[in-house]
Amino acid sequence: MIDLSGKVAVVTGGCSGIGRGTVGVLHRAGAQVACVDVQDDKGSALADELGERVLYVHADVTLESEIATGFARIAEHFGGIDILFNNAGAAEPPGTDPFDVASFERVQKLLVESVILGMKYAIPSMVARGGGSIVNTSSVAGLQAGYGPFAYSVAKGAVLHMTRITAAALAREAIRVNAICPGFIPTPIFGRALGESTEDAERRAKDIRERAHAFQPIRIAGSPEDIGYAVAYFASDLARFVTGQWLAVDGGITVGPRQAWDEAAAIESWTRIGMSDEQVKAFLGVV
Ligand SMILES: NC(=O)c1ccc[n+]([C@@H]2O[C@H](COP(=O)([O-])OP(=O)(O)OC[C@H]3O[C@@H](n4cnc5c(N)ncnc54)[C@H](O)[C@@H]3O)[C@@H](O)[C@H]2O)c1
Repeated sequence: MIDLSGKVAVVTGGCSGIGRGTVGVLHRAGAQVACVDVQDDKGSALADELGERVLYVHADVTLESEIATGFARIAEHFGGIDILFNNAGAAEPPGTDPFDVASFERVQKLLVESVILGMKYAIPSMVARGGGSIVNTSSVAGLQAGYGPFAYSVAKGAVLHMTRITAAALAREAIRVNAICPGFIPTPIFGRALGESTEDAERRAKDIRERAHAFQPIRIAGSPEDIGYAVAYFASDLARFVTGQWLAVDGGITVGPRQAWDEAAAIESWTRIGMSDEQVKAFLGVV
């Protein structure tokens, strides 16, 4: 139903996880897709696999010169840019001192400044083409405490507010800006934060996927494509009246605290005030 034929999409961090899944979804929807990343072997293999509607471009999103050159190459190759998915990212290692300012700045540079730079070098092309759609990857960690480390969560909150502010400013150019808050999507990001090699991090992602159905009310593991479908919606004309919004694609994890939907957690919580297991189950509506 979503048709992106004739549109040119840029996906940063397109070689792995959510970005890789989204490249596939946008490609299947008919778009020409530029995958921007630093994993050159994976990027070249992806372009070879998907064919001429996919271009791999090496650019470190923390370096303005590389984004400028990379986006210029994409615009030249495909004739312009209509869709930008600002998605490249990583988290600081667990246990990082929140007051380690150097680490905090590195994370903001990767997760916040890169979004600004992506917009800076995509907007002129969008304006020239009469409009566009920008989608930013935030996180449930940008909405609530408890889903990510300190600098990462602060950065994802900033991405949400940047989405609103830029949406207001860019509407007159017919450019819409929205954000997606993924929930728990098993990808190499978790192993990478632990300092693992790409291969080990991919193995860990596969292992986590086996258990990921238990992380949220919807009892299946979230997939990169689940995020890609939301990107495709925001990118398409079906969302022509939607800007400055965020969509949690999280299997319901932010619907309420765990005791709202998990029987064991509810029993542990409510029996503390003297409710019986049966009363808790009735309270939860569990049959
Ligand atoms: N996986 C989750 O559960 C989850 C949840 C919420 C938000 N997110 C966000 O989704 C986005 C994608 O994460 P993922 O889980 O797919 O991780 P991932 O590690 O699988 O993919 C991240 C990609 O970004 C690329 N990248 C990292 N730094 C880069 C740089 N400086 N320049 C260019 N490319 C760079 C990596 O090479 C990799 O291909 C991130 O912004 C992340 O914060 C992920």
